[in-house]
Amino acid sequence: MGAWPRLEIQLGFIELTKQDLMSMNYRNCLTMFFGALFLLSSGSALAADLEKGKKVFRKCKACHTIKAGGKSTIGPNLHGVVGRAAAAVDGFKYSKAMKESGLVWDEANLTAYLTKPKEFLPGNKMPFPGLKKPEQIENVIAYIIDKSK
Ligand code: HEC
Repeated sequence: MGAWPRLEIQLGFIELTKQDLMSMNYRNCLTMFFGALFLLSSGSALAADLEKGKKVFRKCKACHTIKAGGKSTIGPNLHGVVGRAAAAVDGFKYSKAMKESGLVWDEANLTAYLTKPKEFLPGNKMPFPGLKKPEQIENVIAYIIDKSK
């Protein structure tokens, strides 16, 4: 049961103490555990649809490669971009706005960027209007993460 305290921290918004969990019977405990796992994963890569993400990525492919060591073309190579500092691809001429953004790409700021690139980071030079549907963004981010493994 060593993992429970950590789970509690991650699930801080659900008011459960270790005692609550311990006093439940085994089946309830398991149900809780998988329910919690589902909560943790929904809204992130695990719940997203990689096939759909691949289709969405076709739009990005006009300007971005995704494979390891892929070329930067109109846009920088995106392999491993989630978790990486913005403007980190060697040899790509980023805008001043991107270079000075101080961003480290994560699912949250990438979602905001891909919704409205110009509004999220004024002065950046990605000539892309943004994706309309939240699920397209969720799926494309999952695809990028998957392709970066
Ligand atoms: C028409 C070309 C074009 C399209 C289409 C495009 N991008 Fe970009 N993208 C760029 C350019 C150019 C930059 C560099 C922006 C800058 O330096 O300000 C960029 C930057 C980025 C960055 C920041 C990279 C870094 O190293 O910091 C991410 C992430 C990104 N694009 C994701 C996407 C995704 C995902 C899609 C598809 C949904 C997409 N882009 C579609 C041209 C494009």
